[in-house]
Amino acid sequence: MTITFVGHGYVGLVTAAVFADFGNKVYVIGHTKEKVDNLKKGIIPIFEPGLEELVKKNIKAKRLEFTMDYAPAIPESDVVFIAVGTPPIKTGDADLSAVLGVAEQIGRNLSGYTVVATKSTVPIGTNKKVQLILEETKPEGAEVSYASIPEFLREGSAISDTVNPDRVVIGSEDPRAQKILIKLHEPIKAPVLITNFETAELIKYAANSFLALKISYANSIARLSELLGANALKVLEGIGMDRRIGNQFLYPGAGYGGSCFPKDVKALISIAKDHNYSFSLLEEVENVNHQARRDIVIKARGMLGDLRGKKIGVLGLAFKPNTDDMRDAPSIDVITWLKNDGSKITAFDPVAMGNATALMPGINFVTDMYKVAEDADLLIVLTEWNEFKELDLKRIKKLMRNLNIIDGRNIYEPKTLRDLGFNYVGVGR
Ligand code: UDX
Repeated sequence: MTITFVGHGYVGLVTAAVFADFGNKVYVIGHTKEKVDNLKKGIIPIFEPGLEELVKKNIKAKRLEFTMDYAPAIPESDVVFIAVGTPPIKTGDADLSAVLGVAEQIGRNLSGYTVVATKSTVPIGTNKKVQLILEETKPEGAEVSYASIPEFLREGSAISDTVNPDRVVIGSEDPRAQKILIKLHEPIKAPVLITNFETAELIKYAANSFLALKISYANSIARLSELLGANALKVLEGIGMDRRIGNQFLYPGAGYGGSCFPKDVKALISIAKDHNYSFSLLEEVENVNHQARRDIVIKARGMLGDLRGKKIGVLGLAFKPNTDDMRDAPSIDVITWLKNDGSKITAFDPVAMGNATALMPGINFVTDMYKVAEDADLLIVLTEWNEFKELDLKRIKKLMRNLNIIDGRNIYEPKTLRDLGFNYVGVGR
């Protein structure tokens, strides 16, 4: 099949590369010349393990092509995916201008029969608007079916999540579109759930909000465990053994961040409000997540007292390991609050420092992770990168001025650290 992706962010680029690798001819339409020129050379704008190789391989095989033009990509395509961003505006609602704008451009370039599907996370009801735009803008004789196909990939494991998802959701009640989309997804061995637009749109928000809820639940249990002297990791392991609960997304720490959970929880609260439903359960999920970040600073004060002039080393800035993404990373809040208290921050992240520099003025970024420990009064782990798990702690001990560690992702064994003489504080234990 020939398919087009409009948008080359995480979702667009990864899915396009995977579908090209399945043997389809895939166009990717971008809007920034510099980015499209780079993509043509296989230079990708994001850090995602395995993606650059996959993109290069499929460019070479002439299955993957980057362009700024809607023609000939759209008229040639059997399926067109809208995969542009829907960033939150101040109210928490998603900004739909990109989605609606590209819908118009796609509409004008349609020819023959085409299935247009949205991959972007959009509020319930948006797909009806997109369908209307396509119908209004398409040239005479062109036929279009419309579908919503939400994406569930995670950064850092985006390729395997796309090739092996838990399910494929196809939101379309049009049998012709369903047939083509089922065929396109055939190489993916996962159950297919067919439903209408609204249900597909809500599945995406409901899934991400539920995962955020699990994390906030884990962080609440962690806080309570600290107060009771219990070990939250064991409590959560114990409840996770119940198959009805499951053991995933129950790791307490400095809270969730990234481009999806914070945005989607906010958007679902806002969607509910629009329909006079107060989704206060999710408001509490947000509060707990905010508090999880805050608690890191409270623990720092507990260890050092007045933070003025104290030297704090931060290990990890990205919102999670294996990505350079800094969007809504807990480190941004935590470092801002620590700085506001007067401490001096030195930070290291294996790949996110480039993106972090603009967001964090006044921070001393270092390119060697051991340098964060030099003369430090406190070391804080905010992202669980593998290299931090393998730190030479004896070397760290020699470098630090005072042996305090806040392990915001519970990557170390408390006993090992305490035996080495560190004052260790984790989350929930
Ligand atoms: C998420 C969803 O998992 C994915 O299905 C969706 O398509 C996009 O949003 P992503 O944002 O890439 O993916 O990251 P994810 O691995 O889900 O982690 C999100 C955040 O939650 C990270 O900050 C992570 O540190 C945090 N987290 C995750 C926890 O704090 N505890 C956990 O148990 C799991």
